Amino acid sequence: MYSQAKVIAGGLAHIPVLIAVFYFILTTFNKRALKFVEEAKTKKSEPKVVEPQKVAVSKTESTKVGKKKHANVPVNIYRPKTPYEGTVLENYSLLKEGAIGRVNHITFDLKDSDPFLNYVEGQSIGIMPAGEDSNGKPHKLRLYSIASTRHGDNFNGNTVSLCVRQLQYEKDGETINGVCSTYLCDIKPGDKVKITGPVGKEMLLPDEEDANIVMLATGTGIAPMRAYLRRMFEATEKEKNKWNFKGKAWLFMGAPKSANLLYEEDFQRYLNEYPDNFKYTKAISREQQNAKGGRMYIQDRVLESANELFDMIEDEKTHIYLCGLKGMEPGIDEAMTKAAEEKGLNWSELRPQLKKAGRWHVETY
Ligand code: FAD
Ligand code: A2P
Repeated sequence: MYSQAKVIAGGLAHIPVLIAVFYFILTTFNKRALKFVEEAKTKKSEPKVVEPQKVAVSKTESTKVGKKKHANVPVNIYRPKTPYEGTVLENYSLLKEGAIGRVNHITFDLKDSDPFLNYVEGQSIGIMPAGEDSNGKPHKLRLYSIASTRHGDNFNGNTVSLCVRQLQYEKDGETINGVCSTYLCDIKPGDKVKITGPVGKEMLLPDEEDANIVMLATGTGIAPMRAYLRRMFEATEKEKNKWNFKGKAWLFMGAPKSANLLYEEDFQRYLNEYPDNFKYTKAISREQQNAKGGRMYIQDRVLESANELFDMIEDEKTHIYLCGLKGMEPGIDEAMTKAAEEKGLNWSELRPQLKKAGRWHVETY
């Protein structure tokens, strides 16, 4: 005979079994549900497999671009706490009659620096302007791209030159002059200037003599390009550097007026002497018009030369250097996108490949 207590005890004894069954159903369902959600997620985020259009980037080339490659490039020989005091050797205007603004070529003597302040083409130095800011603190340093080769303008290897535009803008009806650029444009031969650096490894030239060098410059962005071109084509410099450049150098230069073109006579001379190695394309924004009737910028010139330019870019020996106004970057990107499309290439895939291969160099400010 079953007593009531036995019935209850029997019922209770089934509870663990029931819980186990429930737990089994629940976890199986959850697992399936989770698997379904995961599958749905992967389906959603799985990118469309598009074969990237490869630009020629050899393995040897990308490994060469490691940090080791530039280990011998000097950096930070002089820092802001202990700058080198260089003497101004010359300071003259680079502009012609009728030009806009003020752009100067300034050379400093480095011969008394100890340790010696040496540098290579494509680096920058810091300048600490004299005086104090509105808080009574010494002015902070400003960077300037070096416009000379490591042998300097006098080829003795003991000077450094800059190409400086005076910053000027209007604010509340008043003309504001940039602190350091005005200081530099005003300094006189014999003056002492606090110099730091050198810095930067982004804009270095490749070692290969048969490299192709495409240069996109606006305004003072010409500074590093001037150094590259002197290294390639200036007779005495070539004797010194023993770098027998055999590739093609193509300069795209943007300036507001013809009178603002910088180092023009030198570049014309290189064109005459090296017609097979040097190509020079100008965009004079306030004298020439682009296809839409707007100001002619270097990106418009890039588009005009899309085919030839991309034939060069597809060659793994080609490096591209961009220097000058920060504002030109979106325009150049847009032009490169269109130019690449014309060749069936995808610039947004190509650019990171070039960057990784150490062939895309940008310094804008
Ligand atoms: P500042 O007195 O420092 O004034 C600049 C400030 O003014 C800006 O920060 C902004 O706040 C304000 N300002 C600027 N324009 C306007 C405007 N239109 N309206 C309102 N406010 C404004 N310069 C060269 O000339 N040649 C070079 O070769 C060169 N190379 C460079 C390389 C690198 C790597 C970098 C980072 C910069 C380079 N520069 C170069 C720029 C240079 O470092 C200075 O920034 C520039 O000379 C201005 O400094 P400044 O002291 O005269 O101006
Ligand atoms: P603009 O000033 O006529 O608009 P500089 O430094 O001597 O002024 O030269 C800079 C050159 O770059 C000028 O011709 C200037 O044209 C041009 N420029 C200005 N903005 C851009 C931009 N966004 N992209 C390309 N070039 C530009």
